[in-house]
Amino acid sequence: MKIQETDQSRLSEINFDKLPFGEIFTDHMLLCHYKDGAWKEPEIRPYGELPFYPGLQALHYGQSIFEGMKAFKNEEDHIFLFRPEENYKRLNRSAVRMCMPELPKEVFMNGLEQLLRIDHKWIPKGEGKSLYIRPFMFASGNFIIARPGKEYLFAIICCPTGSYYSGEVRVKIEENYARSGPGGTGFAKAAGNYAASFYPAKLAVEEGYSQLIWTDAATHTHIEESGTMNIMFHIGDKLITPNLSEKILAGITRDSVIKLAKHMNIVVEERQVSVAEIIDALEKGTLKEAFGVGTAVTVSPISLIGKGNKKYELPKSTNSLAITLKNALEDIKKAKTADPFGWRKEIII
Ligand code: COI
Repeated sequence: MKIQETDQSRLSEINFDKLPFGEIFTDHMLLCHYKDGAWKEPEIRPYGELPFYPGLQALHYGQSIFEGMKAFKNEEDHIFLFRPEENYKRLNRSAVRMCMPELPKEVFMNGLEQLLRIDHKWIPKGEGKSLYIRPFMFASGNFIIARPGKEYLFAIICCPTGSYYSGEVRVKIEENYARSGPGGTGFAKAAGNYAASFYPAKLAVEEGYSQLIWTDAATHTHIEESGTMNIMFHIGDKLITPNLSEKILAGITRDSVIKLAKHMNIVVEERQVSVAEIIDALEKGTLKEAFGVGTAVTVSPISLIGKGNKKYELPKSTNSLAITLKNALEDIKKAKTADPFGWRKEIII
């Protein structure tokens, strides 16, 4: 791997007590080009601009995918990744769906580890803080024929970060627009899935919400995801979440929370969740909590759910399952507790 380190680190300019999400980038990035049917030697170089022609294929047809993952530093300065293999596998599942070449494992894993070694001083310490890692791949060729590209760029960039959402999360059940459909790309982390969600989300923000609850495209009667997260409900003594399908992103946090909850002897149901059932539980007062789960947010409690003109405030939980699960997950990530699932991967600097 070619490595060119910067002699002008920006580290000392950063206020680590005030970290916005996704706006501050570390000193270096990893790049790996695909050309003539093969992945080339990866390189690490200073974070900076990439040259491109206006014919850059990803700009025209959206052949672009990404991942989200985090590195953590604990009080003893040990550095950990959380289930990185799952991100690697999901990147390649997205690549196959978007007709892009799969990435060799060593490019992803060795490239990421090497990048973390070089930029390890950027990993923030403290509650809720981490280094958000953004691996991504796009069609980088210079042509505008509507067919899969022949050239691609895989890259990894990183941002030191605090929490993703600030304040309470108020969500509206979406009954018009859809995030995904049968046979579509909902399960893939395709850039276009997010672009298509911005307009309905903007309408919801104009109504005073923070995000949407996505429902099935055909009938809008079943819940799928929320915003950029998977969604879970605490009803009675059970944890209930929509089952995975081609329409739903297989969240790594989702999977981890489910395994953790089962480990705590909580009954978990992965199944179809109807809007009617959630409204009924809200009206009867059996819905104790609703929360989003995702890499960026980890676990994000929902304070209000809206449907049409009706708004339902969720009860203020004194004994929150969401927070218990969030803390248990954070403790595993930062090696404060045992890791019965083998999820942590320590990076030795
Ligand atoms: C993540 O949670 O890592 C995601 O990829 C969502 C993104 C919109 C921040």
